[in-house]
Amino acid sequence: MGNIKNTKIIINGKKRLAGRVRIGGAKNAALPELSAVLLSKGPFCFHDVPEVEDLKVMFQALSNLGAEGNFISNTVHISLPEIKSALVPREIVETSRASILILGPLVARNGYAKVSKPGGCPIGERKINYHLAGLEKMGVEITEDHDHIIAVAHKPLKAIDYSFPSKSVTGTENLIMAAALAEGTTILRNCALEPEVGDLIDLLVKMGAGIEGKNTETISIKGQSSLTGTHHRVIPDRIEMGTYVIAGCLEDNEIIVENTDPDYIRSLLDILNQSGLHTETGNNWIKAHGNHSFKPAAVETEPFPGFPTDLQAQLTTFLTQAEGASRIKENIFNNRFQHCKELNKMGAHIEVDGDVSIIHGKSLLHGTHIHATDLRASAALILGGLIAQGQTVMENAFQLLRGYENMPGKLGDLGADVKLIED
Ligand code: EPZ
Repeated sequence: MGNIKNTKIIINGKKRLAGRVRIGGAKNAALPELSAVLLSKGPFCFHDVPEVEDLKVMFQALSNLGAEGNFISNTVHISLPEIKSALVPREIVETSRASILILGPLVARNGYAKVSKPGGCPIGERKINYHLAGLEKMGVEITEDHDHIIAVAHKPLKAIDYSFPSKSVTGTENLIMAAALAEGTTILRNCALEPEVGDLIDLLVKMGAGIEGKNTETISIKGQSSLTGTHHRVIPDRIEMGTYVIAGCLEDNEIIVENTDPDYIRSLLDILNQSGLHTETGNNWIKAHGNHSFKPAAVETEPFPGFPTDLQAQLTTFLTQAEGASRIKENIFNNRFQHCKELNKMGAHIEVDGDVSIIHGKSLLHGTHIHATDLRASAALILGGLIAQGQTVMENAFQLLRGYENMPGKLGDLGADVKLIED
């Protein structure tokens, strides 16, 4: 087994993509759902869990805490009869910041949690002050040493009425999970509306939690003294979905994306259709047709149901092919344009000024050596390699493996020439 951190991807571009691709389970639903295992002894069975690095790290983190089970071909069997450790170490948090999702359920179950402080993040500042403020209101004592956040609850958590100052996906998820074992009924306001939050609520209700307000900004959680294990199928990954729909809209490609919910990416489909692209949708499939000539767009990233920040990089690649100048404003993270520099190495003409990028199209892209700066940038650069003349070598492809299951294989099945090379 090579050193996964030295992985690179080689793409020989200009191959027509056609056929069907099945979308896997949502990474950002499976992460909180595996964390929810801490709220019960189990057993649990999860289906459609994407076999990506972030989930492998989460499974390992739970095993370190005392979980028993296995993670084999998209199915996770897991139970947590007894907490054996309450430490989430640095190597776990460094690989996946989502391990902060362990904090809420662990302190609610165990009365103590020690989580390594999340390090820097390539896409920008990733604060967790809302997570900590809500837990403190619930009666958790939060202290910090040089490397860790330490959370202590001397008695069961208290129900609270808390309003998020701004939308936070994992903040909403962390506090819903902690509230599920609190005494009384918690009201959370200004909650995130992402489908992954709704799927977590579906899981918790199956576990016996009393939760009202799914898919609304105000969620009430009636705390229970204990919760049970259950079976759960993870919803499809809307970011993987959007990535393949964008691939299908390039050049003369034609891709049918299966196991989807078009409503999860309605904002993207509206942008594509307004630019002159043709997509067809059924109840669980989306057909994307390529087009060599389409109009530019003006887009702002927003919390769901607005256009997702996690598709911003992929849309940037697409808009390098528009006839004219497009504009993207990134409202969620403060350093999420690093893919633009890499795309410019391939012949794109993108100007970045603060939280706005201007993408001058149409650019003919050519293969060259590029570097994947973060997870979604890596997918955007692969889309660039697919339409570039010649060979593209993308270094640091480990980023892709964090969140996309078998993308080279799925693209290969559609006719692309994409190879994953591990040193
Ligand atoms: C989730 O991150 C996703 N990760 C991210 O996906 C996604 O980009 C993001 O939501 C926005 O949709 C998971 O679900 C595991 P936030 P999260 O809390 O929860 C500020 C990917 O590529 N904020 O919604 O960490 C924060 O700084 C990843 O799969 C606070 O100020 O994002 C940011 O500017 C990348 N205080 C904004 O809110 C807080 O306590 C949105 O953050 C929490 C957040």
